[in-house]
Amino acid sequence: MHRAKARERGKPKVSGAALRDEGKQTEEQAERHCGIKGSINYGRNGVKTRIIGTGSCLPGTVVTNDDLSKVMDTSDEWISSRTGIRERHLVKEETTASMSVEAAKRAMKDAGVTAEEIDLIILGTVSADFVTPACACEVQAAIGATNAVAFDINAACAGFMFALNIANAYIQAGIYRTALILGAETLSKIVDWEDRSTCVLFGDGAGAAVVRGDEQYGLLAFDQGSDGTKGDVLACPGRTNNNPLIQTDQRLGFVHMDGQEVYKFAVTTVPASLQKTIETAGLMPKDIDYFALHQANIRILQSVSKRLHIGEDKFPISLDHCGNISAASVPILLDEMNRKGLLKPGMKVALSGFGGGLTWASAVLEW
Ligand code: COA
Repeated sequence: MHRAKARERGKPKVSGAALRDEGKQTEEQAERHCGIKGSINYGRNGVKTRIIGTGSCLPGTVVTNDDLSKVMDTSDEWISSRTGIRERHLVKEETTASMSVEAAKRAMKDAGVTAEEIDLIILGTVSADFVTPACACEVQAAIGATNAVAFDINAACAGFMFALNIANAYIQAGIYRTALILGAETLSKIVDWEDRSTCVLFGDGAGAAVVRGDEQYGLLAFDQGSDGTKGDVLACPGRTNNNPLIQTDQRLGFVHMDGQEVYKFAVTTVPASLQKTIETAGLMPKDIDYFALHQANIRILQSVSKRLHIGEDKFPISLDHCGNISAASVPILLDEMNRKGLLKPGMKVALSGFGGGLTWASAVLEW
């Protein structure tokens, strides 16, 4: 589906003072609307941030639950009944950057946008190939986006959503016009393959979207949050201190998770964040055509659907064949929906990402 034909527009011309006032009004309005600070309504200055193309890339090797049961003490019955996951894709030759590049090329093709037109590349990941350069810079080089500024962000499973909102802020401010945003992970290299309670949940892959200012459709409202006090319930240690003063035995850590605490966080925070965002957009949950949520666990999606009183048929699923791919989950799901032709211009879509940090972010947009 080529969304590039969507009407293009020039950069919005808004003064700094006007923007500051606008921001103040927006926050006050959000507080009045739902009684909670932080939910922002967009599009009032005449430009909305619209997703105009999507792409994704999954590595070639599929590993089923039965495959895992041959190398660890688990079963398809345990994994699928608790999570809904049946299989996941794991890398062999692929890297976080190589999958990102493929997803980016597909999104640009879908959008009908050339590499030179991209002003900004933001990539959400917790599993980049290098500490530096950023994976976004690797993508920039590979696709030839010579006019773009590129950087990575770490907001774990909310990474793509945070990237979307950062791109939105740049577009709303008139600084950039066209952005490539990605979520990409090679989680298989940071999970502990001896911890059956976590390793069976995750997969590898990348998803991308091209976003651009649009006068008609796009982002209506956004909500973001973080709670660093609960960071230890889902964590992956980095390198420890090591220098001539304190020589230590450098051992890289792996992902560890308190599954039940994460579950409790997800089933309370996500529906509240979605409800708030939908209200800020001036809508009701029943007005939303699809809820494209982070794909952590089918039980979390069922719980959100129940709490919002919305049928599960409005919650598309990719976790059955992908597992949890952290920042890549939402853009991969969106791309699958797009390629299936589920998304029509003007449809109301709610997105939500949530996970390590803890972090969460929801958005409501018109497709
Ligand atoms: N295969 C078989 N048995 C397993 C297993 C596996 N892969 N992993 C754990 N078990 C066992 C445990 O050892 C435990 O056995 P015990 O009762 O003999 O001690 C039993 O299964 C129950 O484990 P428990 O951790 O209580 O399971 P649970 O019902 O809480 O389900 C999760 C575990 C991870 C599926 C669940 O907590 C969850 O989905 N949490 C949210 C996680 C998530 O989505 N995180 C990412 C968010 S971004």
